[in-house]
Amino acid sequence: MSRRLLALAPLALLVAACGSTKTVTVTVTVARPTPPTTKVNALVAEGAHTFNQFACAQCHGPNGAGGVSPAVPALKIIGKAETPAKLRTIIDHGVGVSSDPTRPYMPVWGQVISKRQVTALIAYLQAGLPAVSGATAPAVQTDQGPIVEGVQLYVRYGCINCHGPNGLGGVPNPSSPDKTIPPLSGADFFKQFNTDAKIIGVIRSGSVLGHAPIVSMPHWGGILTQSQLQALTAYIKTLKNG
Ligand code: HEC
Ligand code: HEC
Repeated sequence: MSRRLLALAPLALLVAACGSTKTVTVTVTVARPTPPTTKVNALVAEGAHTFNQFACAQCHGPNGAGGVSPAVPALKIIGKAETPAKLRTIIDHGVGVSSDPTRPYMPVWGQVISKRQVTALIAYLQAGLPAVSGATAPAVQTDQGPIVEGVQLYVRYGCINCHGPNGLGGVPNPSSPDKTIPPLSGADFFKQFNTDAKIIGVIRSGSVLGHAPIVSMPHWGGILTQSQLQALTAYIKTLKNG
């Protein structure tokens, strides 16, 4: 309804400006907004939501269309071309894990994402990554200060899946030296990461602890901008220290 009014308003003004006394009937055909989604089966829908939750789109683009970083491939073709077994290996074990901070790699997800969730992701990839209702992340707000932006980035880029809500940590990483993915809060964390530069540095450059099944910290250097890194850091500094 508001769209229709908006479309009519300039016409009404035009008629008024011409000083016409005739009654002008204007028929405006407002195109129905195209349905944003395709009807898909439940497993494909589940996969689309999992794709959103684990921030796959933040590296591979919305619906896996690419365009975020030249180092991250689009997924439309491979999703259909590869066997489910190969896709599972890629997701569980990661690809191209490297220590070059400017070149993002495909993280190791096997410890973080369940078999069932990977099955759903594969169904979604093999269906060609269709748009699915509710599985697209809304834009991050940048007009309410860096902390609000950081809270949203923490969820949007999937930090929360590995570091827990409020940076509490506790996600198992059994083959790593620490056995868990570290918290981003608490006295030990803030003792080690006692400057913005140190926090930003580790988010940008990540770490390579070893090969799958060890989960390493992805590099976000080629993905997050400097101001997004600052926003995440501003948010992390609001978390419990002690
Ligand atoms: C931090 C960025 C990042 C995130 C998050 C990410 N990927 Fe990737 N992914 C990559 C990069 C980089 C590659 C290419 C690795 C290479 O070939 O060196 C890749 C490769 C892939 C491939 C193989 C593509 C090909 O053409 O060989 C698949 C499939 C894939 N990712 C699926 C996913 C899924 C599913 C998720 C979410 C669970 C995900 N990715 C999350 C960065 C990312
Ligand atoms: C796939 C899981 C995963 C994701 C997603 C992830 N991290 Fe990490 N992160 C790790 C692991 C594992 C480490 C520990 C690395 C090490 O010990 O060298 C780590 C370390 C860190 C550290 C240093 C903490 C310490 O004690 O070493 C910070 C800060 C951090 N991550 C922030 C983030 C932010 C911000 C995001 C989202 C943009 C994010 N991480 C996403 C797995 C992840």
